Amino acid sequence: MQIIDGKAVSKSVKESVKAECEALKKQGVTPGLAVIIVGEDPASQVYVRNKEKACEECGFYSKKYALPEDTTQEELNALVDELNKDDKINGILCQLPLPGHLDDKEVINRIDPIKDVDAFHPVNVGAIMIGDYNFLPCTPAGVMELIHSTGVDVSGKKAVVIGRSNIVGKPMAMLLLHENATVEITHSRTQNLSEVTRTADILVAAIGKAKFVKSDMVKDGAVVIDVGMDRDENGKLCGDVDFDDVKDKCSYITPVPGGVGPMTIAMLMKNTLTAAKIQNGIK
Ligand code: GUN
Repeated sequence: MQIIDGKAVSKSVKESVKAECEALKKQGVTPGLAVIIVGEDPASQVYVRNKEKACEECGFYSKKYALPEDTTQEELNALVDELNKDDKINGILCQLPLPGHLDDKEVINRIDPIKDVDAFHPVNVGAIMIGDYNFLPCTPAGVMELIHSTGVDVSGKKAVVIGRSNIVGKPMAMLLLHENATVEITHSRTQNLSEVTRTADILVAAIGKAKFVKSDMVKDGAVVIDVGMDRDENGKLCGDVDFDDVKDKCSYITPVPGGVGPMTIAMLMKNTLTAAKIQNGIK
C-alpha cells in the first residue's frame, strides 16, 4: 500500500500556477480572487484563511469580504454584483454553508459564470455535463489529480462514488466518466452497499460519516480516495474511510488530513488563473 501525498501533489500544482502567474504579470495581468465569508463558522474561517494563504503563495491578488452573521440577502447580492463588475477580480468564491436565513442558490446563480471559480453555477455544471468547460469543481478535480499521481489508468476501470452531493459526488462521477471509467454512484439508500463498493477498482468516499468505509467494503488492490472531513469519537479530524482498517487492503489511499483537502485549494488557484486568462483574452 502507498499513501498518496496530497500536500506534495498540491505543492506541485501551486508551483506551476505560480510560474504561469509570473508570466501573466509580465503581460500586465494579476489574477484576483474575492472570497466572501458570512458569519463566524470556525471551519469556514480556517478554509478561507487557507485560500488567502494559497493566493499569496501563487502571487495572486486576493480580497476577503468578512460579512456579519446578520447580513441580508440584498446586501450579499449587492456585493456579488459589485465584484462581478470589478476588473481586478477574476474569481468570486462565497464560502458555504451560509447562515440559514441566506439562500446559497441565489448567490451562486448571481455570480457571473466566468468568475465562478467553484464551478457551482448551473451554466458551469451544465458545461461539465457535456464535457466542454472552463472550470472543473475544485474537489473532484483535485481527486482526479491525485488519481493521476498514482499512474493508475482510469480508462475501463470500475469506479464507485459514495455520495451524491452537487459539490462532490455528482461532478466526481462525471469526471471519472470523462476518463472512461465505468461509474456507479451510491448513497444512503443504496441496497447492499458493501457489495457494490467491493466491485470498485477506484473508490471515492464523499459521504461525511466518520470512518464509514471498512475493509470489508474494499476490493483487494483498490485505489481509495477519502473526501471526508469528519471528527472521530475523540473529536480528532478523520475521514470517511477507516484508514487503519482499510490501508492493508488497497494499492493506494489518501490520508486525512493531507490528502484531498490541500488539493481543493490548489485547484481553486488553477481555476482563478484560468479565469484571469479568459477574462483577458490570453490562451
Ligand atoms: N464549503 C465547503 N467546500 C466548499 C467549496 O469547495 N467551495 C465553497 N465556496 N464553499 C465550500
